[in-house]
Amino acid sequence: MARKIVVTSGKGGVGKTTVAANLAAQVSLRGARTVLCDADFGLNNADVVTGVENAVVYDVVDVIEGRCRAKQALVKHPKFTNLHILSSAHSAPERYISPQAFKLVLESLSPNFDFVFIDCPAGIDEGFHRAIAAAEEAIVVTTPQISAVRDADKVITVLKSYELESVSVVINRVRGDMLLSGAILSPEEIAEILKTPVLGILPEEDEVLLSEMTDKTKAFRLLALNLTTEKKKMFDVTKKYTGFVGGLRRFFRGI
Ligand SMILES: Nc1ncnc2c1ncn2[C@@H]1O[C@H](COP(=O)(O)OP(=O)(O)O)[C@@H](O)[C@H]1O
Ligand SMILES: [Mg+2]
Repeated sequence: MARKIVVTSGKGGVGKTTVAANLAAQVSLRGARTVLCDADFGLNNADVVTGVENAVVYDVVDVIEGRCRAKQALVKHPKFTNLHILSSAHSAPERYISPQAFKLVLESLSPNFDFVFIDCPAGIDEGFHRAIAAAEEAIVVTTPQISAVRDADKVITVLKSYELESVSVVINRVRGDMLLSGAILSPEEIAEILKTPVLGILPEEDEVLLSEMTDKTKAFRLLALNLTTEKKKMFDVTKKYTGFVGGLRRFFRGI
């Protein structure tokens, strides 16, 4: 049976889809049969982010309305061969999808996969509840900004009303230079505020998604390792800014 993990946050734009897609890709590279399911029926961009949008034939709504089986709606990723993408409502974006129907689709896939990542919409209304109700575990994505951490805190409170097996936090878009200068909240401070364990730290990096060996890819590899094993290794975002070269980097950035 697959581990069903929702990737959520309070705030929009903090990196839910980025985290869900890259984490799913890295977990799949570790040999796990993985599904990335788009539960964001409004923006539905998981297929775009993973670059398979032109290969989408069926989506979740087609499965629920009986036009195909769940397995037929999966798009196999051309590069990450263990990764499959299940798109949300391209065919009928306005259609009401009940939490039960959505959950049943994921349950029908569960015996054939090891991981199902659910990309949650922003906010804490209907779409959020539908995504959470289908999951057994939650990853809350935040950035080190106070407003994002405050929203993450609200979401974690709401998550307590669900019987989830685990809730953890991923801190995205962390700038090593700002961390060193104390301009942003540290991972330790965030863990303390949220009273929730940190599963991973991801650097701010303007790289093409699912790309080669960037710092972001290394950080996502560690995140996948932390999720799939007992290990808890954090990516060091400050490494780039320490030592002689790092010192120069900070000097020229004026920090
Ligand atoms: N670590 C990062 N470094 C740089 N840009 C990022 C990072 N994470 C996300 N982004 C960018 O932030 C924007 C919002 O990310 P997205 O994953 O779509 O957020 P959400 O799904 O929470 O709305 C996208 O343009 C994405 O490329
Ligand atoms: Mg998104």
